[in-house]
Amino acid sequence: MGAATLTAMRILGIESSCDETAAAIVDDGQTVQSSEVVSQIDIHAEYGGVVPEVAARSHLEVITPVVQRALDSANSDWSDIDAIAVTQGPGLSGSLLIGSLAARTLALTKNKPLYGIHHVTAHAYANFITHRGPAVDYQLPLAPPEFPMLALIVSGGHSQLVLFRGHLDYRLLGQTLDDAVGEAFDKVAKIIGLPYPGGPSISKLAAKGDANAIKLPISKLANPNDFSFSGLKTATLRATQTAVGGDFRTPSYEIPSKLTDMQRADFAASFQATAVDTLVRATRIAAEEYNPESVVIAGGVAANQLLRSELRDALPDYNISYAPSQFCTDNAAMIAALAYFQSQETAAQSPFGFAIKPNWSM
Ligand code: KG4
Ligand code: ZN
Repeated sequence: MGAATLTAMRILGIESSCDETAAAIVDDGQTVQSSEVVSQIDIHAEYGGVVPEVAARSHLEVITPVVQRALDSANSDWSDIDAIAVTQGPGLSGSLLIGSLAARTLALTKNKPLYGIHHVTAHAYANFITHRGPAVDYQLPLAPPEFPMLALIVSGGHSQLVLFRGHLDYRLLGQTLDDAVGEAFDKVAKIIGLPYPGGPSISKLAAKGDANAIKLPISKLANPNDFSFSGLKTATLRATQTAVGGDFRTPSYEIPSKLTDMQRADFAASFQATAVDTLVRATRIAAEEYNPESVVIAGGVAANQLLRSELRDALPDYNISYAPSQFCTDNAAMIAALAYFQSQETAAQSPFGFAIKPNWSM
């Protein structure tokens, strides 16, 4: 698809698949004018994870003001908006429903074309946002990635290696056979007594620990592009049980109070190093096999600084540029970005027949 054939388009994106309510305005899949995110982290932290019913109710309360804020901060009104895009799946049903009902209603009442967007594919499209409007201040990559593009998409719900040959033309090379890597970060954080979400709290504490203190395993799999994190999670649990003088019967809720601060930091550092090593190895093997033009990482775990630096070291031939962490965790700018490329190839959807797809695979 040549750039000259593309039509200029300002898209309002809406995202509500999990515990972030977000709206953003992006021009032509590349220029972010606004990106508003209301996170429910504080609400769910009390429970150590996302509670679906609470998430849906909270989306309902804030979705309208969040959309209005995205318009206001981009200095836009409805007459400037060419299309509306919304996450159609995968995600929590109740959460998806609120975003899609808002988008369908707006598409109807404001008479705009509507696009249903795949959340996981959209994560990779955060890397195509390379320009910003006057109202926002993000450190963006200098240029969009080139095809073929190898994408490591790693979040709380997904761990996948995908080869994009062009826009919307991709092949799934490998994925997790059990837990997503972000989920493993969240569970290990809980075991060692760190707050939800586990990714940021583990990486912060890991800076004070010794990554070689505890030997943890990397699963060997038949497909080198696949991942597995449940063995690493169990091995970490067993090692913590041993560290506190117990055995496999020691309940995990007793562990945090028995660990010293030093032990906690060593577990955080050792777990993070092993999880990152697992991701970097699989990405390097895929890069060697498929020889892509560019390599990108996406999803909440892509905010991890160790992953970024280790991947740069493992792939010295690639000039990897990273999206700002605000566009790695859930946001609506990535939804609006992918929608632009989707709009060039597929027709808009009817707001009447539009159905959410909670289990939509790539
Ligand atoms: O993409 P995201 O916001 O939501 C999903 O689509 O799942 O990803 C959230 C996940 C959580 O599991 C969180 O612990 C993880 O991303 N995460 C991180 C970091 N920041 C967020 N994991 C490792 N290091 C980080 N700095
Ligand atoms: Zn996500």
